[in-house]
Amino acid sequence: MEGDIRTIIETSDGSHTILSDRFQVSYHSKYGAIQESNHVFLANGLHPVAIKQHHISILEMGFGTGLNALLSFREAWLNHWTVVYHAVEAYPISLEQAQQLNYHEWLNDLDDPALLVHFHQQDWDTDVTYNDIFTLKKIASKFESLQLPKESYDLVYYDAFAPSAQPELWEANVLKIMYEALKQGGMLVTYCAKGSVKRTLKSLGFLIEELPGPPGKREMTRAIKP
Ligand SMILES: C[S@@+](CC[C@H](N)C(=O)[O-])C[C@H]1O[C@@H](n2cnc3c(N)ncnc32)[C@H](O)[C@@H]1O
Repeated sequence: MEGDIRTIIETSDGSHTILSDRFQVSYHSKYGAIQESNHVFLANGLHPVAIKQHHISILEMGFGTGLNALLSFREAWLNHWTVVYHAVEAYPISLEQAQQLNYHEWLNDLDDPALLVHFHQQDWDTDVTYNDIFTLKKIASKFESLQLPKESYDLVYYDAFAPSAQPELWEANVLKIMYEALKQGGMLVTYCAKGSVKRTLKSLGFLIEELPGPPGKREMTRAIKP
């Protein structure tokens, strides 16, 4: 975000996150960035979808550090799944910051320790396929003005900053874009468990599941499009 000062900090599991000075929020849980991503987006999102199918289309709201994309690539690679991954971001971090992130230390089973940097270097709004199994497109857009084809994703990682920092991104007009973009039976996962957000999701037609949150957080939300 223009004028935002972003600092890399270490979370409790040792993995990095970024602190946004403008919003006074971090990109991940301070209790553990990798731990949170694994729990919310992989264990409660990607894995349940992969029980039914091994070709999965994912929409991520907030590419940020690229950690969710990197972890999803790794799961796809290790399990022989194919993934189409569209990640929306309006305020990308700098390449210099991406190069400083320490996630590869946890992912030493990846062939290429610079994979995350390649994700950040790739062109916007262009498909790039990695290892024949993971096709990433970074979409340069604000969530609010996103134009997406209807019923095209199996899974949404809704990873906006918290409602306390950016309430407008948790309103019905934005969450409706997610509902419409999901296929029937598709799911949205988010770390957020705020009552008003769950009510908004429900009002759009989602079925709500309250699941245990990652360490440091009691609950998270999974919303299914019936
Ligand atoms: C919680 S962070 C995402 C963390 C990310 N998924 C990761 O693994 O690092 C929220 C992201 O949303 C982006 N963002 C904030 N407002 C936005 C908007 N209106 N439209 C698009 N992106 C936005 C921020 O720049 C930030 O990268």
